[in-house]
Amino acid sequence: MSYYEILGFHKEPFSTSPDPSFFCNIPEHRIILSRMEIAVRQKRGLMVVVGDIGLGKTTITRKLVQNFNEEGSYLFHLILNPAFSSEFQFLNTLIKMFKINKIRRSTVDYRQAIQDYLYEMGIEKKKTIVLIIDEGQKLSHEVLEILRIFLNYETNEYKLLQLIILAQMEIMPKIEKMRNFTDRICFKYVLKPVTIEETKNIINFRLHQAGLENGRKLFTESAIEKIYNSTGGYLRRIIALAHNSLERIIMEEKEIVDDIIIDKIIKEG
Ligand SMILES: Nc1ncnc2c1ncn2[C@@H]1O[C@H](COP(=O)(O)OP(=O)(O)O)[C@@H](O)[C@H]1O
Ligand SMILES: [Mg+2]
Repeated sequence: MSYYEILGFHKEPFSTSPDPSFFCNIPEHRIILSRMEIAVRQKRGLMVVVGDIGLGKTTITRKLVQNFNEEGSYLFHLILNPAFSSEFQFLNTLIKMFKINKIRRSTVDYRQAIQDYLYEMGIEKKKTIVLIIDEGQKLSHEVLEILRIFLNYETNEYKLLQLIILAQMEIMPKIEKMRNFTDRICFKYVLKPVTIEETKNIINFRLHQAGLENGRKLFTESAIEKIYNSTGGYLRRIIALAHNSLERIIMEEKEIVDDIIIDKIIKEG
């Protein structure tokens, strides 16, 4: 039996995967999500969300995709690791993702095929193509340049490719050098660590989403304060520490996570 079943959960409350059902509507994330959703619906082109590792970038976009689940005219594509070694490799990935029947194999043909696809899907078939690129700090200048060209494809009213780039801060100097790329950003957001209040909300929200019975308390107030103070409000660390502390109370046969348990875990590193 896994630890979460012992505590009466039906799923793991603090798994590190970006599961959209664990998405807690904290103000910053809610704002990014709704601005992204509006920008996608209005087909405004390029959105960029930057922030350190573990602040929730990937999770927000999983939630975005989920919000469009029922709507067949929005086609989402996800690139998790954009460390392409050449323009050809990148274009080839897009060709496969978009399921474009390729005829020739040069980069010029590929670019043309993608352009044709975006026009056909966006105008004739009335689809909205959304490309989400995670770990965008790995994008090379060459690939950013191709994306910039794709962002030029538009009608009088809208862009034909909606591009969402999630990245760590290192992307900034790269794109700041490309004025004609940054000029196309319709929405940029820099994510910050969460507050202590949000830490509390997120922990409680996830416990309830995972099935904690009403009225049952698993973390003392001071344990949550310690979690906040020792993680600096970085969500990934908060989740990991909360996970370890639940495992710990099972090992020690305790009923609640208190600050002594948190101290022990932190000390053990
Ligand atoms: N709004 C949220 N509510 C609850 N948990 C969240 C939220 N945003 C992120 N998390 C959790 O925080 C951790 C890190 O999030 P992630 O999206 O992987 O960050 P990043 O992509 O910025 O590195 C994940 O375990 C995720 O489930
Ligand atoms: Mg991520």
